[in-house]
Amino acid sequence: MLDVVTIRRQFSEHYADHPRLIVRAPGRVNLIGEHTDYNDGFVFPVAIDRATYVAARPRDDRRVRVAAIDIGEVDEFELDTVQRSEERPWANYIRGVVNSLLVAGHQLAGVNLLITSDVPRGAGLSSSAALEVAVGYAFQVLNKLNLLGEELALLAQGAENNFVGVQCGIMDQFISALGRKDHALLIDCRELHARPVPLPQDAKIVICDSSVRHEHGTSGYNQRRAECEEAVRMLKRQLPRISALRDVTIADLDRFGSLLPPVVLKRARHVVTENARVLESVAALERSDYIRFGELMNESHRSMRDDYEISVPAIDTLVELARGVAGCYGSRMTGGGFGGCTVSLVSADAVATFQQTVAQAYRAQTGLETTIYVCSASDGVGRALPEE
Ligand code: GLA
Repeated sequence: MLDVVTIRRQFSEHYADHPRLIVRAPGRVNLIGEHTDYNDGFVFPVAIDRATYVAARPRDDRRVRVAAIDIGEVDEFELDTVQRSEERPWANYIRGVVNSLLVAGHQLAGVNLLITSDVPRGAGLSSSAALEVAVGYAFQVLNKLNLLGEELALLAQGAENNFVGVQCGIMDQFISALGRKDHALLIDCRELHARPVPLPQDAKIVICDSSVRHEHGTSGYNQRRAECEEAVRMLKRQLPRISALRDVTIADLDRFGSLLPPVVLKRARHVVTENARVLESVAALERSDYIRFGELMNESHRSMRDDYEISVPAIDTLVELARGVAGCYGSRMTGGGFGGCTVSLVSADAVATFQQTVAQAYRAQTGLETTIYVCSASDGVGRALPEE
């Protein structure tokens, strides 16, 4: 866990001055509802207890200096000429947020920033959204901007869409901005409305990192999104009322699915069935029916693997191994796909055995290591407190 005292010291060493502010924005794990957000659908993520920290001090000029201490790199730019950086792809998350704020008409002053994070990068736990939201929030506080959590999330998403080039949905930025301690959020991505759902005490959310890394920009994420849009365009001829896959039912697909190219039908079927699974799984969790919740996680994984085709063999192995442990209710890949992490719901008294068994078997079967986190749900972005 990163601590504020160390971050303050690192900032002082780098800039020879104290930070005025340190903020933290959490990563996330999505329990269920994958690739539904950009289809105006439902997601059910949790803000995790790993976060990106930004220490900041305003400057008297219009320069932004950034020290990314985890990777030992720096970036510098002027507020009046914010452009994409070709040499430093990581810097585009920060430049993109600044650009989004400026385009939205906010007045910003220059700043020195120091960034550090314990969200693993490229693991499907939203290290990018945590960075964007933390940077946006630091600017918001220092420049006394009046942004609601949803607005901050939208600006951060805009940065990723326009500067990084990933046509991501709103889930990651929304949960990083608005997550709630000890709760998951059922987010309606069309209405941008969220309902907190308390997490159980007697079952734990366990994340297993496959150590296979993904890269959204090149991984087919944007292609999946385009396929969903194609499905809507084609189905609209029969179903003029629809504007997104959110509006399509399973009965609609049974009736008109044959009009779609087979791959497009598979993508649409994943999204339509996944939306239904999210709503059913929330109801199951609310009545403490972990068995049904776990079944829905398993079905979600099957759908991502076979219909959306975003899993990889190492992840499938990890999911199978998890399900084989007594006390594991269900397991699935989490996040954008093509590697990253799995999420499992595990009975609290089985967690220790789960960790040992899965780690050993994964090493034996794949030669890879898994890092396992038993996760607790944290609040969304805010000032980092000294006791953290
Ligand atoms: C990534 C994106 C999200 C969402 C997930 C898949 O994390 O950033 O918007 O689409 O993939 O559910």
